[in-house]
Amino acid sequence: MNTGLQLVAWDEAAAGWDAHGPQIGTWLARATEAMLGMAGIIPGQRVLDVAAGAGEQTLAIARRVGAAGQVLATDLSPAILALARGHAADAGLANVQTLVADAGDLPVEPARFDAAVCRLGLMLFPDPLRALQQMHRALRPGGGICALVFSQPARNPCITRLMATACRHAGLPPPDPSTPGGLLSLGRPGLMADLFATAGFRDVATTSIDAPFRLPSARAYLDFVRSSASPIRQILGRLDAAAARAAWDEMEERLGAFTTPTGWEGPNELLLTAGRR
Ligand SMILES: C[S@@+](CC[C@H](N)C(=O)[O-])C[C@H]1O[C@@H](n2cnc3c(N)ncnc32)[C@H](O)[C@@H]1O
Repeated sequence: MNTGLQLVAWDEAAAGWDAHGPQIGTWLARATEAMLGMAGIIPGQRVLDVAAGAGEQTLAIARRVGAAGQVLATDLSPAILALARGHAADAGLANVQTLVADAGDLPVEPARFDAAVCRLGLMLFPDPLRALQQMHRALRPGGGICALVFSQPARNPCITRLMATACRHAGLPPPDPSTPGGLLSLGRPGLMADLFATAGFRDVATTSIDAPFRLPSARAYLDFVRSSASPIRQILGRLDAAAARAAWDEMEERLGAFTTPTGWEGPNELLLTAGRR
């Protein structure tokens, strides 16, 4: 999806993503804690949160930096960022500000921030290197950065099964995971570290983290997919209702392979890449 389509898709999906906030928070809790640690976020800092979405990780950052610190949550979608702003206000966090901005063109003062993060955003951008260069520019010398993305296809079988099934039903060729903007586009080993180094970061390190998505059922996972700005929706959008239903039914059947005695557990592997300006 190009940036214009991302904007429309995320404005539409904002409420659905937000409604799944508690499940997303549980799914990503360990990875988020690691991300904030690897970015070196401590009390009193100014932190830039790129592609902040409905702000689940923004609030964690705001609590971590405390009243003496600040978080600027930025996102392409005004609708989803408005939800982040609302959650910060509801939580009484006066240290959160928001800014609607494309990650490829961040209108922030150079060297303003002590740390920067991007949780599950970078892989969606048409030009992730440009976004990293923007974050580099926004950081003070020595400031830390950490970004979280999906790893390689074999380690994220729910996404690969969904994409392959949707493409087959839509009469499209199997998806190429390396296509820019795809969910798995930054998962190739070494790619994130190369991008960070090219953007000018030093002390770059990547670590992988298992993040199984535990839900009551495969159907609950598909509800999440349906209500987010997943590319699956775009792919199946070209089918009539009956054909789309057949595709969703087959996806549910294929995801049933991850049913456990206590519910459903979809394997995911994420990559955390950190560096320093
Ligand atoms: C998967 S969501 C992640 C949101 C949040 N970081 C989280 O983990 O809950 C991806 C977010 O990236 C944003 N996004 C997509 N393309 C963008 C771009 N070019 N610039 C800024 N944000 C973008 C979307 O609007 C969406 O909020």
